[in-house]
Formats: sequence, C-alpha cells, structure tokens
Amino acid sequence: ARPAILVARAVFPEVIDKLRLHFEVETTPDGVAWSPAELRERLQGKVGVLTTGSERIDGALLAACPQLKVVANLAVGHNNFDLEAMTSAGVLGTNAPDVLTETTADFGFALLMATARRVTESEHYLRAGRWKQWSLDLFAGAEVHGSTLGILGMGRIGQAIARRGALGFGMPVIYHNRSPLSPEQEARVGARYVDRDTLFAQADHLVLVLPYTPAAHHTVGAAELARMKPTATLINIARGGIVDEDALVAALREQRLAAAGLDVFEGEPAVNPALLTVPNVVLTPHIASATRPTRLAMATLAADNLIAYLTEGRALTPLNPQVIGRH
Ligand code: GLV
Ligand code: GLV
Repeated sequence: ARPAILVARAVFPEVIDKLRLHFEVETTPDGVAWSPAELRERLQGKVGVLTTGSERIDGALLAACPQLKVVANLAVGHNNFDLEAMTSAGVLGTNAPDVLTETTADFGFALLMATARRVTESEHYLRAGRWKQWSLDLFAGAEVHGSTLGILGMGRIGQAIARRGALGFGMPVIYHNRSPLSPEQEARVGARYVDRDTLFAQADHLVLVLPYTPAAHHTVGAAELARMKPTATLINIARGGIVDEDALVAALREQRLAAAGLDVFEGEPAVNPALLTVPNVVLTPHIASATRPTRLAMATLAADNLIAYLTEGRALTPLNPQVIGRH
C-alpha cells in the first residue's frame, strides 16, 4: 500500500492531486480546522502531515502518533512546532520560507502605509456618511517617504522591507537583530544596525518581523512602547505574542503612540476586544502572504517536502535536518 498522509486543512486541488500521485491522502472536505483531538485521531497510521501553522505539534501528539515521520508547515513561521520534541521523536519538520518573502514584504509596506496615512480609519468615516467638507487637517497622517524606518528582526522578509523603504521611499533604515548583517548585506538593503533601545527611540515607523520564540514573548511591552516617539507607528506582521496588546492599547489610547497596524494577534483568530475599540489601529486577519500565487507556492513547497522526504529521504527546507536518516 502507498504511504498515508494527512492534509490538515484544504489546500489547492492541484497540490492535493500532486500528493495523490505518491500517497493515500486524507484531507478536510470543507477547509474547516480540526480540533486537536480530531487531528490526533486522523493522524493515526499517517506517516506525514501538511499543517498550516495553526495545528500544534508537540510531544503529547507525537507520542500518540508513533508512525509519523514528517510534518510540513505551510508557513515560514513554525512556532506551532515543538521542534525539540519532534527531534527527539525523530520527526522531521519543514517550513515554507523564501517563496513568500517579497509578497509578505509588500504587505508589510501596505500595512505601514495604511496605518501612517490612516486609510482604513478615513474610509470608515466616509462610509458612515460623516464627510461634510474638505478640510486642511482631515485625517492628517504621518509622513512615510524620508522618515526613519525601523525593522526588528532582519531575516529575508526584514531585508525585503528595508529595500522597499530605502530604494522606493528614500527612508533611512535602521534595524536590530540578534546578529547584524555583514557590511555588504547592509549596503545591499540600505540598512544600518543599531542597538535595541535606539531602534525603538529613533524609528518613525517600526516594523516587527522577528520569529516568535519564548524569548520573543511580549518583547514589545510597556517599556519599549514608552521609548517610542508619540508620532510613531508600530507594524506587526510577525506573531501576535511578540507585542503586549494591553500595553499597546494603553499607549494608543493615551496617544503615546500615533497608530499601529496589526496582521497578527496573540489569541488569533480571536482579537483582544480592547483593540477593536481603538480608532488609530489597522487590523487585518493574518494575510501578509495571501496572494494566490504565493499561497500556491507555499503549499507546493510543503507538498514537495513531504514527497522528497517520504520517497527519497531528503527535504527541501528542513528545520531539524539532524533527524534525516533516523527513521
Ligand atoms: C505566516 O505567518 C507564515 O509564517 O508563513
Ligand atoms: C524569516 O525566516 C524570514 O524569512 O524573514
């Protein structure tokens, strides 16, 4: 019999067809997420699974699914994986980097501009029939071009955002990252390394693109927000748990921060109700990589990882390559 795999959320039919050339494939008929208990149930007897970044893969699940060899995430982020538990169980994890970099950077900039220039707030005003006359300071926002762009986390997406700011908008770009770029890389993307405090203090627009790890939990909290300029905007396209949302709401309400643009939320898909009551925040439902070509490329990469590993024992974008050959 062919190996059996699970696709934990409906993906493109062409990707399912490709998987069916190699595997018995079980998937959701309707794209609705399974509960953790149902996921565990459906994983029985499966050697591989395609996850979406919402399914938690931890030691308890792995212990209940001893046949499982590989989990392919349809996301660059993989904070839904307990990678240590996967490694000790000999289970390979893969993510979907690179193919989403430029699209995600485009969205980071879209959210920055919508936030700085108050696009959604002003549209709500217009739709509510409140626009009675042109006026000089109606929805006056923050300058984008020429202002200082700050980036926290300087992976591929951070670098792609830096290029957009430096080359397209003439912005001085400063960044902080665990490890600085090389001088050649800095020159290529037009960004300058600064320490963390300087980043928060000097950025006019601060974009968060760091991976979520336990150490990154609420790394942007009351102290960091207090360091920011009252005219600054904060953009989060990384993971919700990086920002202390209650501290952010307080800073926005008290106008210690001009505005925020959030694509990710700590309890998503639930959104902190306090955020919904603040006008100077732009909220989007985790769509930074959501163009059809990019989501298809991500799904294809996840499928290709399953195929490569289960048919040839290799992987395209492994997260814990040390397990390869151990199963
Ligand atoms: C989306 O958030 C991803 O990690 O790809
Ligand atoms: C992180 O891996 C990124 O692509 O920015």
